[in-house]
Amino acid sequence: MSSDIVRVPQSAQPTALAGKRILLGVSGSIAAYKAADICSQLAKLEADVHVVLTPRAARFVGVPTFAALTRNPVLVDLFDEPQSRRIVHVDLAQSAHLVLVAPASANLIARLAHGIADDMLTTCLIATPRGTPLLIAPAMNTIMWEHPATVANVQLLRTRGVRVVEPAEGLLACQEVGVGKLAEVETIVQAVVDQLTRTREFDGDEFVITAGATREPLDPVRFLTNRSSGRMGVAIAAEALRRGATVTLITGHMSVPPPTGVDWIQVETAEEMLGAALEHAQRFAVFIGAAAVADFAPERIATAKIKKPVDVKNDEAGPVLRLRRTQDILATVGAMKRPAQLIVGFAAETEDLIANARRKLQSKHADLIVANDVTQAGAGFDVETNIVTMVGSDFERSLPLLSKREVASRILDEIAEMRTGRLNTIREESSQ
Ligand code: PMT
Repeated sequence: MSSDIVRVPQSAQPTALAGKRILLGVSGSIAAYKAADICSQLAKLEADVHVVLTPRAARFVGVPTFAALTRNPVLVDLFDEPQSRRIVHVDLAQSAHLVLVAPASANLIARLAHGIADDMLTTCLIATPRGTPLLIAPAMNTIMWEHPATVANVQLLRTRGVRVVEPAEGLLACQEVGVGKLAEVETIVQAVVDQLTRTREFDGDEFVITAGATREPLDPVRFLTNRSSGRMGVAIAAEALRRGATVTLITGHMSVPPPTGVDWIQVETAEEMLGAALEHAQRFAVFIGAAAVADFAPERIATAKIKKPVDVKNDEAGPVLRLRRTQDILATVGAMKRPAQLIVGFAAETEDLIANARRKLQSKHADLIVANDVTQAGAGFDVETNIVTMVGSDFERSLPLLSKREVASRILDEIAEMRTGRLNTIREESSQ
């Protein structure tokens, strides 16, 4: 297969948002120009988008841009309300299926948290009924994002059910590198689609999902790790959330943010990941191990940086590292599982894909192994796509090259079927 042309199928259907009315709020941030792209993408998915700008946002992007993209009036000033019997801000807020504020500045977040309604956007926000999903996508300088006031305001909003599309790390407008960059447009649009196309298939079911790469320290500055980006696990978490599950996502190092709405536990080492998994081992309905967990860790962690001797010759052998086996998380959790609980593992293989997957299915007490041949272009580590074969005790199902989100969807279809079958069997057995 050619490695330079990889088609990533869109996971959102072209009409995914047909009939959905979205109130898009834009606040004053240099990232406001990206709101036009978000608006355009939502409109392409057939959403009926109504835009409200803060006066400062209107200085970054013009009203006509949003009016042309949405074919709806764009509001800025509270006194812009047309002279009619309807109260526009109440009408807009109450008729929206979802409210999105992107970008959400530190100031907007503070005003929203404290119920200040001093312009058209914040007045719409305070008039939004409690059951309407409210998503905010923050964008600001790192110091502002990490300021205790912002941290407290975001926390307060989360406790009220506001969903935060986490800002990304990168080069900010102030030329500093840090966290605070508006999440990718695709991530924000996907969060909206997920929220508005939720199903109840896994309603009330608790999923525990591991993702990303563990890091095993050698000394205070070095560690052993692998190339997992966390994309596969994050895609599964997002899809499980969309289908109504409660998701605990345990991650090592990742290069993508977690999806909006998960309970996120961050760890470093295999041992810490095992500890976090065991804390949730009693409660889960489905455990999915998508993380690339270190099989070996240094036997000894040096307390000071391992130095090379000053007079070392280039051809002289370096230090020898002794490694110890880590405990297998999936096998440990699998050995404890109750009949209604399902265990799903991955197998990252470079040879004998199916035979190795079958071996792992048994040794890890798993119900399903998702095997990926990580030598194939477009599969495995740190790419947007994957090629997998699902291996169960009595079946094998191979999928073509798909986006990781689409792979996640197929895995969850399989899990839904297995879970229904399992619960029916338990019910039948207990009624005999
Ligand atoms: O994160 P991405 O960049 O999107 O890449 C995705 C992926 C390639 C990491 C993912 O698709 C994948 O294959 N994850 C499992 C990687 C791996 O560690 O495979 P394994 O064959 O070594 O392990 C088998 C299973 O046991 C896995 O479910 C793993 O999470 C689990 N395991 C392994 C070792 C260990 N100590 N504890 C474990 O639980």
